[in-house]
Amino acid sequence: MATIEYPSQLTNGQSRASILALLQNRLSPERYQHCLRVEQTARELAERFGEDVDRAGLAGLLHDYAKEISKTDYIDVIKRNGFDLDLLHYNRGIWHGIVGTWFIKQEVGVTDHLVIQAIEHHTTGDPNMSTLDQIIFVADFIEPERKLEAEVKARAAAKTNMREATLIELENTLSYLISNRQIVYPKTLLTYNAFIQPKE
Ligand SMILES: [Fe+2]
Ligand SMILES: [Fe+2]
Repeated sequence: MATIEYPSQLTNGQSRASILALLQNRLSPERYQHCLRVEQTARELAERFGEDVDRAGLAGLLHDYAKEISKTDYIDVIKRNGFDLDLLHYNRGIWHGIVGTWFIKQEVGVTDHLVIQAIEHHTTGDPNMSTLDQIIFVADFIEPERKLEAEVKARAAAKTNMREATLIELENTLSYLISNRQIVYPKTLLTYNAFIQPKE
């Protein structure tokens, strides 16, 4: 793989090496490696579907930056920074997208709206997910270490059709949550509904 470097306007002037150091500091080695694979997968998908490869790569790299931040830190940030208090009914699985971007802005300094939005949407989806958002959502699900049946199916769909790959992931996520009696974030259901309907 050629060495990747991101345009400074996307990184607030930080080198990729310094971003990697921050990421490594926040994550277990396993999750750090997952982020590197999602970065690469997102770059490939962006290339395939004509999206901004650097935005996709950076969002992929940082998507789980906040996944291991403590519950108490999250609750504190939600309460002090004007987040919807309904978020307190959910968990880190949801928070690390929507609230995670607060930590990414504060600690990494990345503020690019499209990168931030893609990270925000990667945990819950959004009925109006852009192609870039779908790329991050799906890259997380189909990075090379993902081997489950739905993941393999989504990877094949993502060769040609991001909406289909996104839908496969949404079906899988909702089925998993419901069969494990876990709370469903309403927007994920709205996203599913938006994706099963014809576009027009
Ligand atoms: Fe995540
Ligand atoms: Fe992830």
